[in-house]
Amino acid sequence: MNYEGLTLPKHLTIIMDGNGRWATERGLTRSEGHLEGSKTLEKIALYAYEKGIKILSVFAFSTENFKRSKEEVGYLMDLFVNMLNKRHYVFKEKDVKVIFSGRRELLRKDVLAAMDKITNDTANNKSGILNICLNYSGQDEIVDATKNISRDILAGKIKIEDIDRHLFHQYLYQDLPDIDFVIRTSGENRISNFMLWQMAYAELYFPKIYFPAFTTADFDEAILEFNRRNRRFGGNETKSN
Ligand code: IPE
Ligand code: IPE
Ligand code: MG
Repeated sequence: MNYEGLTLPKHLTIIMDGNGRWATERGLTRSEGHLEGSKTLEKIALYAYEKGIKILSVFAFSTENFKRSKEEVGYLMDLFVNMLNKRHYVFKEKDVKVIFSGRRELLRKDVLAAMDKITNDTANNKSGILNICLNYSGQDEIVDATKNISRDILAGKIKIEDIDRHLFHQYLYQDLPDIDFVIRTSGENRISNFMLWQMAYAELYFPKIYFPAFTTADFDEAILEFNRRNRRFGGNETKSN
């Protein structure tokens, strides 16, 4: 699709949901669903950057996902290591900087090593940002920011009076602009503890498509939907995106 004249979200996020149901409906294992989802992520991310998206955050694994079976969690962690190690040249070539949001504790050493390697290898890339949320919880991000702010107050680096939205933002995991548009696939109408602070004025979109089945045409439709939204940010003038 031709994107001429369309407004793009500056910060786009995708909650990649529905891998398991996609697989089950096809008589496949949940793992096969996750593998297909990882291929979809690469395809959609590269398409998004090609169309001019600069910042993409994706929800890959929530802190709550540790509640799943040992087998499924293990498979997902293996998949992350594989993806990050084997496919990372793709993001290097496309000049995309890969960063992560989430807590490092509870993640396996090989996962952390793969995360650190891709972070270092893509640190100077300028064309786009891929923020992978892994062992991520939106509430924990706010808790962690609050702890670090408290530490800096006790250390005398800042004063309570200094705390405002702008300062709080500086203590989040990554320095990214607020989210403009959230795509959550699979038909669930919830945000499942994703980037709560950053989502304050985001437009939400819930296509009834399992993530592995999400195509570039579905992405085009999402961008058209974003362009149909009338964002007011609490004001009353009609403002286009
Ligand atoms: C999203 O797909 C991937 C992760 C949460 C890791 P799901 O695994 O949640 O798939 P469904 O929701 O069970 O279909
Ligand atoms: C949200 O999906 C997390 C990711 C996509 C990584 P879930 O499948 O974990 O969300 P719930 O449990 O349906 O809310
Ligand atoms: Mg799910």
